[in-house]
Amino acid sequence: MTDPEILMRPEREEDIQALNDLAARAFGPGRFARTAHRVRESASVVEALSHTAWFGDELAGSIRFAPIQIGERSDVLLLGPLMVDAKWAGKGYGRALIEKGLELAKAQGFTLVLLVGDLPYYKRFGFQRVPPGQIVLPGPVDPSRLLGVELSPGALKNFEGSVKGIC
Ligand SMILES: CC(C)(COP(=O)(O)OP(=O)(O)OC[C@H]1O[C@@H](n2cnc3c(N)ncnc32)[C@H](O)[C@@H]1OP(=O)(O)O)[C@@H](O)C(=O)NCCC(=O)NCCS
Repeated sequence: MTDPEILMRPEREEDIQALNDLAARAFGPGRFARTAHRVRESASVVEALSHTAWFGDELAGSIRFAPIQIGERSDVLLLGPLMVDAKWAGKGYGRALIEKGLELAKAQGFTLVLLVGDLPYYKRFGFQRVPPGQIVLPGPVDPSRLLGVELSPGALKNFEGSVKGIC
């Protein structure tokens, strides 16, 4: 269950500097070379789903979702980045941000959320490996890190083909 003490709100324009600083600390300079970053560059941000989490007035973490198309379908989102400041790691901020985002995504009619990340962390939220070759990103991705969570039972099998960001 999400800790009721964790304060979250949709991302605002004035958060950008703090978010950029947190991304630099969480992912380092290599973040711009990632394939997921390439998809996000060509996509907008779903503002209603992208939240920041706070400890008082300090930014503790954030999550973003980008609209994408896989093959002909667009009822799918790319999750990322998810980041939590190391200072607040292990206190449930990551969980709170993911649970909130997935709940809102489902309510908006999305049936799948895709990400590139660690299965040992994301499996607790229902993410599973995408079968190799089923979904193709525009760049190299370790197939064991391409994960999806079904927001509608059996949705993953409906998605096949290339991923493109939607503006
Ligand atoms: C991964 C991350 C988002 C987790 O956030 P968090 O707020 O610390 O996570 P939570 O408090 O919800 O969960 C903590 C639990 O997840 C586990 N965990 C954290 N990262 C993990 C990983 N990569 N693999 C497996 N388990 C992981 C912790 O050990 C802890 O386990 P416990 O509940 O058994 O004690 C955060 O560590 C982070 O921002 N890391 C750097 C950026 C990153 O890797 N982002 C995700 C890639 S898309």
